[in-house]
Amino acid sequence: MTNTSSLATARRRSDRLRNLIDHPDSTDPAVAAERAQLRVLTGDRPTGPLHIGHYLGTVRNRVELQDKGVETFLLIADYQVITDRDALGDIRGNVLGLLADYLAAGIDPARSTVFAHSAVPAANQLMLPFLSLVTEAELHRNPTVKDELAASMAKNGRPMSGLLLTYPVHQACDILFCHGNVVPVGQDQLPHIEQARVIARRFNERYAGGEQVFTEPEALLTSSPMITGTDGRKMSKSRGNTVPLGATADETAKIFRKAVTDGERRITFDPERRPEVANLLTIAAEFTGRPAAEIAESIGDAGAGELKRVVTEAVNDGLAGHRARRAELIADPGYLLSVLREGNARANEVADATLARVREAMGTVY
Ligand code: TRP
Repeated sequence: MTNTSSLATARRRSDRLRNLIDHPDSTDPAVAAERAQLRVLTGDRPTGPLHIGHYLGTVRNRVELQDKGVETFLLIADYQVITDRDALGDIRGNVLGLLADYLAAGIDPARSTVFAHSAVPAANQLMLPFLSLVTEAELHRNPTVKDELAASMAKNGRPMSGLLLTYPVHQACDILFCHGNVVPVGQDQLPHIEQARVIARRFNERYAGGEQVFTEPEALLTSSPMITGTDGRKMSKSRGNTVPLGATADETAKIFRKAVTDGERRITFDPERRPEVANLLTIAAEFTGRPAAEIAESIGDAGAGELKRVVTEAVNDGLAGHRARRAELIADPGYLLSVLREGNARANEVADATLARVREAMGTVY
């Protein structure tokens, strides 16, 4: 599904969307009208604390979209936690942590709707007609599902579950129930966006006589650089190579002190040849707004120890405000839950209206 030509098409669509989002003052009424129709839907699985990779890759961008006036739905994908594991874990703690990070980063519950999968029954009910619109072969072909199956097989020998096989359809429910047409994601999620587009199209054709009940969503591909973990591998909580947003300044220093670098004393920014050093420089650059090469230059012969000090300071300074707000929010779970309940209520209103339209189109209103 994500072959080279469909990737190029997705990129083109994404560039066009970004251009539309970045030009709020168009005098062309058609452009302004299209922009006003944009609605972002995106989300996270509450599997553990968010880290600096999430912050740089997605969280920051969502706040920016919200602040540019694009209506934003933010999903806490709790049903997706059990696609690849046997238990939900500390689901309540993880959900509260996500909420605290969203709000600390600048998500404003008065403008953005934050909600949880499990609290929106009508959105989940779309799963039934949507499942009828995909073939088993399509589900088995999804490259991201295949990768996730391989990972969960390797980790705990867990075979394909019905939910893992069908979660891209569930993700289509997430996107389509609220008519989300802008989905900010990384490349790995493109097969799911494509699946949601196919479902929207087939629903309209087969069950709605061509009426546009659903619009085909588009991916907004992230432009942030890929950050790896402090050991140079993919950032992941289970590898202990990440900096959680909620870590203290001391914990952050400790994590970077253990970071992998290389044997060369002089620090240079050379992503091809020196990926680990380049990664630390990129993190410092992202948090300070200074170019990575310039940071490398200023460290020069002071070596890896100085690089680690610089990146620690960049992250700690860059996150100081976030961490202070996060700590206050975490101390007030009642408030966090009230934000979620309000978001759930808003999401339910939208989902109920969509399901009513679906049942009408299908003739199942009695
Ligand atoms: N699958 C996404 C992830 O692992 C989370 C997610 C669930 C999502 N539903 C979504 C993302 C809908 C975008 C749109 O990160």
